[in-house]
Amino acid sequence: MKSYELRNKFLSFYEKKDHEIVNSSSLIPDDESVLFTTAGMQQFKPFYVQGDSPYGTRTVSAQKCFRTSDIEEVGDQDHLTFFEMLGNFSFGDYFKKEAILWAQEFLIEELGFDREKLVYTYFEGNEEIPEDKKAKKILLDSGISKKKIYPLGREENFWGPTGTEGPCGPTVEIHYVLKDEGCGPDCDPSCDCDKFIEIWNLVFNQFYMNEDKSLKPLKHQGIDTGMGLERLAMIVQEKSHVFETDLFTPLKNKIDSLTNKNVDQRPKRIIADHIKGSVFLISEGVTPSNTERGYILRRLLRRSMRYRKLLDLPENSLEEVAEVVFEIYDDFYLESADKKKVYKVIEKEREKFEKALDKGLKEFRKVTEDGSLDGRKAFHLYSTYGFPVEMIQELCDEKEISFSKEGFEKAKKEHIKVSKKGAEKKFGGVSKDPEEEELKLHTATHLLHEALRRVLGDHVKQEGSDINPKRLRFDFSHHKSMTDEEIKEVEDLVNRKIEEGLQKKIEEMSYDEAIEVGALSFFEKEKYPEKVKVYSFVTDDGKVFSKELCGGPHVENTGQLGKFTIKKEKSSSKGVRRIKAVLK
Ligand code: ALA
Repeated sequence: MKSYELRNKFLSFYEKKDHEIVNSSSLIPDDESVLFTTAGMQQFKPFYVQGDSPYGTRTVSAQKCFRTSDIEEVGDQDHLTFFEMLGNFSFGDYFKKEAILWAQEFLIEELGFDREKLVYTYFEGNEEIPEDKKAKKILLDSGISKKKIYPLGREENFWGPTGTEGPCGPTVEIHYVLKDEGCGPDCDPSCDCDKFIEIWNLVFNQFYMNEDKSLKPLKHQGIDTGMGLERLAMIVQEKSHVFETDLFTPLKNKIDSLTNKNVDQRPKRIIADHIKGSVFLISEGVTPSNTERGYILRRLLRRSMRYRKLLDLPENSLEEVAEVVFEIYDDFYLESADKKKVYKVIEKEREKFEKALDKGLKEFRKVTEDGSLDGRKAFHLYSTYGFPVEMIQELCDEKEISFSKEGFEKAKKEHIKVSKKGAEKKFGGVSKDPEEEELKLHTATHLLHEALRRVLGDHVKQEGSDINPKRLRFDFSHHKSMTDEEIKEVEDLVNRKIEEGLQKKIEEMSYDEAIEVGALSFFEKEKYPEKVKVYSFVTDDGKVFSKELCGGPHVENTGQLGKFTIKKEKSSSKGVRRIKAVLK
């Protein structure tokens, strides 16, 4: 069975059980506390808390995911950075029993899995959370023998939340037995001897974890499951490796056709995984840089470039591998991706890095002549030649050179400390105060609101606003996506109003008076107090740019704001657009 058939079978199996099929969300989530979408539940996270799912209480999806946690293990049997997660979800609807029984039905009846080869784990409990006796009973009642059911601890059988807070709960994991013999009599599914492979994680979201790690019962408890399509394909297609499934063989064949070197498979697998991940990230607008998402992409590309050289692949072969990624996902996920742009980004990064790579490799040989690499020298390779740390680690491993990652991290920290001090001296020791930043962004929100109305029309109305010290988020009514020109026009208008240095003016009046003088308001009259505050921003000669009912606080003068930049404009819900913007 081909992987696309597996994907479709999964979606239609749950559709028949009244789940709405929801498209994969972006790899770049709305949730500011996570860098990438790492699980199918990411896009549904709010529905466990607020219970306001527009898709109903049951959904099913095939979600593209990206995780960096396993980056060093890529190349082994089953670890990847980019992968697909199949999942079914319930928000305050069905719970453990249906989740477990349907998972068994799908694997055994729909896909023909051998019942004997499936084993199950459940949460054994700890001081804080009791043993999941319900899950255990459901498993036993479904006819699974006791010896195939393993109680395991929090590390294995408790999942979530993604980011700093959110839904989480005990799990049942379904593992497949790959080999009859394990590493010993105590071998269980948490062991990494490759006897078992985890295929499906069923999370019973019962709790909400706060930022301080405390748990409270979740309002809309529900189900969140995740099954890796690549691993599923590996078992169904009877392969010993995810890289031998049809989601990877075209990539492997391409790389093989480009090299005569009959080397170990690992470098080829790393290129296949990393270029696949890069294609998806670039298609979502990530470009290589030295921070956050951009740096992850840079690491994938640079590591692939070193392996390209090692395998003696032609210069533009990473672009050729990228082309195959498009072929694999042409009718799912990447239908409308801009291929040329992806190739261009890879080419540009190559031009940037490859010269440094040769020089850096020379330097590496020089500084490791004595068979070791200390932290400072490693940091030099990182900062001067742009070597990602895992690449330094690999170079050392290959040549059996001792390298201390801690030493590297220490040198990096010292460097950051010194440059921070330098910067503080240079800029008069002013560090950014989060409250001050929020104040500025609040004022910028008013300017943005007014600018949107002037550029797009009076139908624009605030639908939501959220500010943290780093950015503002503004939701507003508007029925289509903004053009690049419109975005630029709004940005320019806000920046002009910042430059003009508009003065803050506060007036108190009744709601009716405020509306009379043209102040913008967002709620019904009943929601406001008797006397309301109206904040305006006014030019020296008394011209009002923005006037809104608001609780404040704001900065005194828009001249304090700095440069306003719109980072993102996208749909938030039907007829509502969302802008994220920053001040620099
Ligand atoms: N959200 C769960 C996971 O990622 C299903 O494993």
